[in-house]
This record gives sequence, structure tokens and C-alpha cells, in this order.
Amino acid sequence: MNGNITFTMVKPGSVADGNTGGILAKIQEGGFVIKALKMVKLTTEQAQAFYEVHKERPFYNSLVASMTAGPVVAAILEKENAVLAYRNYIGATNPAEAAEGSIRKVYGKSIESNAVHGSDSDGNACIEADFFFSKLEQY
Ligand code: RTP
Ligand code: MG
Repeated sequence: MNGNITFTMVKPGSVADGNTGGILAKIQEGGFVIKALKMVKLTTEQAQAFYEVHKERPFYNSLVASMTAGPVVAAILEKENAVLAYRNYIGATNPAEAAEGSIRKVYGKSIESNAVHGSDSDGNACIEADFFFSKLEQY
């Protein structure tokens, strides 16, 4: 069965560019309900742990550096079939290949500075939500 929760981050580049509000508004326009929300600056160790799965990839160090360059805005989102629905809504990893009107097409600048993160499975959505939010902070 598909879950109804996903996890997202507005990445540091988009926060720095002043696009947090626009991106959160677009998320809500897409029918995603914000269940938890916070701005937090990750330490290098935290970003390394979050992206542990990409440890062997050539872009790992650069990804960790970009994700710690400033604060992110993290959120838990609720919608039916949330993980897949949100990944469709944000568009392809590379903004140049993202569908017209998708978050990454509108706000992304490059494959690394691609505006937002979105969980890739129900299991990872729960792991990532718990990474950022205590049970008391998940509504
Ligand atoms: P995300 O995890 O951020 O939602 O993105 P994704 O599933 O679409 O992409 P993933 O393969 O999980 O990659 C995680 C993030 O790493 C950066 N990346 N850079 N330089 C590159 O070739 C490259 N490939 C991926 C992106 O910031 C991507 O969102
Ligand atoms: Mg991913």
C-alpha cells in the first residue's frame, strides 16, 4: 500500500534566493498539506549522514557542501500516494529536463542546485521525517 507522507527540503540556494515562500505556496497549491515545518542549517556530519546512500557517487562531496552552505527549510507533506505524487510534482532531478511548471523547472538552476529534495520511497520518507523532526514536531 502507498503511504500518504513524504519529506521535502527547500535547498540552501533557493532559501538564499528568497524562494522559500514561493516554493511552499506552490507545494500547497499542488494539494500537499504541510504537517511539519522548520528552517535548520545542517552540519557537514548531518548532511553526510542524510546523503549516506550517495557516499560513493562522484557528486557526494559537492552535494554535501551545497546542502550545508546555508539553512534549508524542511517539511513533512501529506497527500494520497505522497512520495510518487510529490516526485512527479517537483520534476526531474535536472531542472533542464523537468516538466514545464514543475517546482524544479520553475525554481531549479542546475542538477545540483535543483530547488528541492523529495523522498524516493515510503520507507525513506519516514526515515527522513524522523531525521529532522521529533515525534512532538510531527502534526
Ligand atoms: P533528491 O534526492 O534531492 O530529491 O533528488 P533526486 O532523488 O531526484 O536525485 P538523487 O539521485 O537522489 O540525487 C540527490 C541530489 O544529488 C544531486 N545530484 N547531483 N552532479 C550530479 O550529477 C548530480 N546528480 C545528483 C542533486 O542535487 C540531487 O537532488
Ligand atoms: Mg533522491
